[in-house]
Amino acid sequence: MAGAGKIVILTGAGASAESGLGTFRDAGGLWQKYDLAKVATPEGFARNPALVHDFYNARRANALAAVPNAAHRALARLQADWSDKVVLVTQNIDALHERAGSHTVLHMHGEIERALCAACGHRWQAPAEMRPADPCPACGAPATRPDVVWFGEIPYHMEEIYGHLAGCTLFVALGTSGSVWPAAGFVAEARAAGAETLELNLEPSDVSRAFHRRRYGPASEVVPAWVTEVLGEG
Ligand code: APR
Repeated sequence: MAGAGKIVILTGAGASAESGLGTFRDAGGLWQKYDLAKVATPEGFARNPALVHDFYNARRANALAAVPNAAHRALARLQADWSDKVVLVTQNIDALHERAGSHTVLHMHGEIERALCAACGHRWQAPAEMRPADPCPACGAPATRPDVVWFGEIPYHMEEIYGHLAGCTLFVALGTSGSVWPAAGFVAEARAAGAETLELNLEPSDVSRAFHRRRYGPASEVVPAWVTEVLGEG
């Protein structure tokens, strides 16, 4: 499938959907229940930090209680067998890839199990519940926030991700609607580098036409089948 080259895999909320974590834009998704401007922007946090912490406290509890599904486990198996040839980039803030055994996961939208001090930049493992008055363990300022990337903020690891895209022979997008940039542009970056591109999703994404190949179905079925093929076990 990919020859001996590097595979870059981008995952989105669809990868964790069958672990019970909500997606954003499907029917009943998070952005139909909450106003993202109020809970996922720096302005919303400045206006009402308690509301934002409540939102992420609830998502953190769900993420901590969730169990990796067959898609997470298959990707961990691929990484284990192809070690440094597989780069896993995720838009997800849960730790299900890591809990399935994946290593070096690039969380471009941050991690809900991490906390960040808006005053000094210190990062630490977030407590189950965060509150606006919590003092930063390093500088003491009551400026703690979830270490997640909000709309209008710069995603993490972008230079490293573009470097991997420039050198990959296969780019796979899994469980993402392709509606949020810069992740939605990764397929074009990979094609410009001459890579093969594959979309694995429940249904066509906003950028499905940009992919050479597409396979649709639940991640827990489509991803293990694809990994088995790549590992030559099929
Ligand atoms: N298996 C595979 N794909 C699925 C499944 C499933 N079981 N369930 C849903 N999907 C697909 C949907 O068809 C959709 O294309 O997952 C995608 C989820 O899309 P979104 O809800 O938009 O999530 P995502 O693409 O990860 O959003 C990107 O937007 O709000 C921000 O920061 C947030 O990281 C998020 C970013």
